Amino acid sequence: MKALVLAGGSGTRLRPITHTSAKQLVPVANKPVLFYGLEAIAAAGVREIGIVVGDTHAEIEAAVGDGRAFGLEVTYIRQRAPLGLAHAVLVARDYLGDDDFVMYLGDNFIVGGINDVVERFTRERPAAHIMLTTVGDPRQFGVAELDATGRVVGLEEKPPVPKSDLALVGVYLFTAAIHEAVAELKPSWRGELEITDAVHWLIADGRRVESSVISGYWKDTGNVTDMLEVNRLVLESLEPRVDGLVDEASQLIGRVVVEPGAEIERSRVVGPAIIGPGARIRDSYIGPFTSIAAGCAVSGSEIEYSIVLPRSSIAGVSRIEASLIGHDVEVTPAPTTPRAHRLVLGDHSKVQISS
Ligand code: G1P
Repeated sequence: MKALVLAGGSGTRLRPITHTSAKQLVPVANKPVLFYGLEAIAAAGVREIGIVVGDTHAEIEAAVGDGRAFGLEVTYIRQRAPLGLAHAVLVARDYLGDDDFVMYLGDNFIVGGINDVVERFTRERPAAHIMLTTVGDPRQFGVAELDATGRVVGLEEKPPVPKSDLALVGVYLFTAAIHEAVAELKPSWRGELEITDAVHWLIADGRRVESSVISGYWKDTGNVTDMLEVNRLVLESLEPRVDGLVDEASQLIGRVVVEPGAEIERSRVVGPAIIGPGARIRDSYIGPFTSIAAGCAVSGSEIEYSIVLPRSSIAGVSRIEASLIGHDVEVTPAPTTPRAHRLVLGDHSKVQISS
């Protein structure tokens, strides 16, 4: 069995963060979302993996390399334009050959891995096995329609009037039968070749399509609340570890990870929290469910339930909560008079100011 990981696309829903970085590299507990997927694939015993990349290929390749660090053999497959998930299968046709494969969307986060589903698929070998989960707003997903016995009888991509609240999770297992379906597809209303339509084609053609319903699923919706929530979830399972420097005037409480080269002085860090390599925390309070990435500087500030991306600095600010702060951002207090907010915000930024 091979894996096909999709790491193209433009990430419009996570702007402005994705104006400058690939959506699959957005960190959860200081680790790119994509890496959790690669680890899950390796843990399921798959070795050969094709990663479909688009405009952000250089960044993805720099982050993942040849895959050896994950115990994987990576082949990069270029998709010239984001023309849909089934289009990615089409461009990977030569790489995949007639092998079974697990297709994994690089921006999806699944708690609990894929070992069970890969094992079940290998045993039963239906034409396809899809994973479903209940979601609040199914209109943003592929949606499955089940009959009274729980069998999948139909699938629709982003239906305005969903037939259920069971959404397709971004992990699919296929035999080579999927290539027949993909070859028959026409672009959808959004101009993409939809994998949802391909699986629907298999069902309509009488092929066996199995499904399993999972809990513990997350996908970005442009909704920072969701990202903070998955960050919280992952931080809660951290093994505390201190590889950086913590001075005597500082206090670490609960599950805290301090990465090598990080320095904490005269500060209080209440876990679960992670302080990235080379980050400097001075005279500050870092509250629960916070990820501070590599090379950040936090001084004289309070921050809680937030994600801060690499190399940002926060100085003299209290208090930041439920926030997502990008790369190389500077947050500083305004000079005392006039008491005004001075903002340099990228396109699609969202700011809440308490005055
Ligand atoms: C894609 C699929 C959709 C699936 C979703 C899961 O949506 O088309 O069926 O539910 O991934 O992440 P997209 O990310 O293209 O909007």
